[in-house]
Amino acid sequence: MSQDLSSLTQDGLAAIAAATDERMLDDARIAYLGKKGSITAASAQMKSLPNEEKPAFGAALNEARNTINHAIDEKKLALQTAADAKSVEGIDLTLPGRQIPVGALHPITQVKDEAIQILRRMGFALADGPEIEDEFHCFDALNTPADHPARNEKDTFYFDSGKLLRTHTSSVQVRNMEKQTPPVKIIAPGSAYRRDEIDATHLSVFTQLEGLFVDKDVTLADLKGTLEYFYKALFGPETETRFRPHFFPFTEPSFEIDIKLVAKGQEPKWIEVAGCGMVDPAVFSAICESRKDETFSPDNITGFAFGMGIDRLAMIKWGIRDIRALIENDTRFLSQFA
Ligand code: DAH
Repeated sequence: MSQDLSSLTQDGLAAIAAATDERMLDDARIAYLGKKGSITAASAQMKSLPNEEKPAFGAALNEARNTINHAIDEKKLALQTAADAKSVEGIDLTLPGRQIPVGALHPITQVKDEAIQILRRMGFALADGPEIEDEFHCFDALNTPADHPARNEKDTFYFDSGKLLRTHTSSVQVRNMEKQTPPVKIIAPGSAYRRDEIDATHLSVFTQLEGLFVDKDVTLADLKGTLEYFYKALFGPETETRFRPHFFPFTEPSFEIDIKLVAKGQEPKWIEVAGCGMVDPAVFSAICESRKDETFSPDNITGFAFGMGIDRLAMIKWGIRDIRALIENDTRFLSQFA
């Protein structure tokens, strides 16, 4: 009987060795170890054996099964290894891989996000307003009279409907005060549009960040402290700022802010980075009129406002000399900020 088993085992091993793919290997497994396989069939003889021969036969059966199972496992591995090798045949695995370009945030987005983070830590909430505006929110409510040059058709993109592309983000100040009650402490980053000649320092679409803080007893000292802190946080603790008296229709007094740029081996240079001031009482009066209430009465509240060009900040931060590089989408330029 064991003799039979050992020749069955030999046959099985030969069938396994002869298998050239996984299917043939599986056929061999079924032929020997499957339900109707020959080793399974041989095990049926157990019943008719005298008791004293059963243990030896049982052990021989187990050994036959183990031997075949083991051979199947080994052959399976060998077949898979061969198949893997075949699938990469003719491919040079030492060649460098293909580079997949990885995107990154645009430099304007990077500076904008950083500015937002700093101002949010100081309690400013993000606000938003439409880019297609009406003259009331862009000009009238901001104390900008009809004959002001900014309202000229040569400077502003008007639609036939009389609406316009907002020339600054200051319109968001108005939209917010119409809806909220003091204290109002908001920042509004976004696009602004002007019919400027495009050159190294001007685009017809650019990014601004507007700020507004209205409450009881807001003072010029609050404005200075806030913006001095802001520029130090953005450009480093040694950053110097200076406030130059200026004129804006919607603030009184008004200032332009310069920061001092100290480049190695060069004379320090003051660069204008923002406009700001104390909200003009005429703006608060326009808000009262629009809301038809006295919530923003200039008798009860004060406020400061500021507006900065984000593109300008990006240019300063990275020493970009031509603003047009920021919108040309040339990856040779943009990849430097990745
Ligand atoms: N809107 C001004 C501009 O586009 C910038 C500005 C100046 C905004 C003074 C302000 C401000 O809020 O108070 O040039």
